Amino acid sequence: MKKLFVMLMAIVTAVAMLCAGCGGDKKAAPSKEAPKAKILRVATEPSFAPFEFQKEGSKEFTGFDIDLIKALGTKAGYKVEVSNMGFDALIPALQAGNIDVAIAGMTITDERKKVVDFTAPYYNAGLIVVVHKDNNTIKGFKDLANKKLAVQIGTTGEKQAHKVPGAKVTAFNTNVEATMELKTGGAEAVINDRPVAEYFLATGGGDKFAKTVGDVLEAEQYGIAVKKGNKELLDALNKALADAKKDGTYDKIYKTWFGAAK
Ligand code: ARG
Repeated sequence: MKKLFVMLMAIVTAVAMLCAGCGGDKKAAPSKEAPKAKILRVATEPSFAPFEFQKEGSKEFTGFDIDLIKALGTKAGYKVEVSNMGFDALIPALQAGNIDVAIAGMTITDERKKVVDFTAPYYNAGLIVVVHKDNNTIKGFKDLANKKLAVQIGTTGEKQAHKVPGAKVTAFNTNVEATMELKTGGAEAVINDRPVAEYFLATGGGDKFAKTVGDVLEAEQYGIAVKKGNKELLDALNKALADAKKDGTYDKIYKTWFGAAK
């Protein structure tokens, strides 16, 4: 009886091993399907036209940054998927590994460089003051002391606002809300990125109630952020960006959103 059991076990084991072998062979067989492109998980904060926004009545993200990252991702062999989150959530999401890339008109700063890596700069911007069009007392950054300022949370504009002596700063989740605060009179000035303020005045109907004043504050450059140490992705994006600048892709996208070639 015992012998029979041992023999039976031996047979069972042999069959199991054989089957495992079959399974292994099957897996190794070449697949007829083309290999699927790797997915690039991109996140943005879409209240920042013309860099990223949602066209009225659409859930799709559009804008300069969206076109750019799609072009770069494709060049680097990725399928690009874009999601959205709060601007101040982008860097933590990169750090946690929940997303691969953040593109959001994000200024390359020394502080951010400590926690994420940036590609080469892809756009030159800077901060500017936006006021109500009837306001004739605020003529630039120098006149902001003790004023009510609206900014978007986590931005360089917010940082700048906190440097203004006596200013009462309100930080909003979106850039659109900060601008609306100016419209309703809750704020006397907004500190925003120059290209975004200009686009809003020229295209977004902002000229009905707002205007920019004074000089653009210190040059800022936008970069695409990846998780710190993700050298493979950073190199791939930098290479794709350099290619896009060389082969006209960048100029084409620039023209779409800013009218003239760079
Ligand atoms: N350039 C500014 C910064 O990096 C503002 C960016 C805001 N971007 C956005 N998608 N809302 O802080």
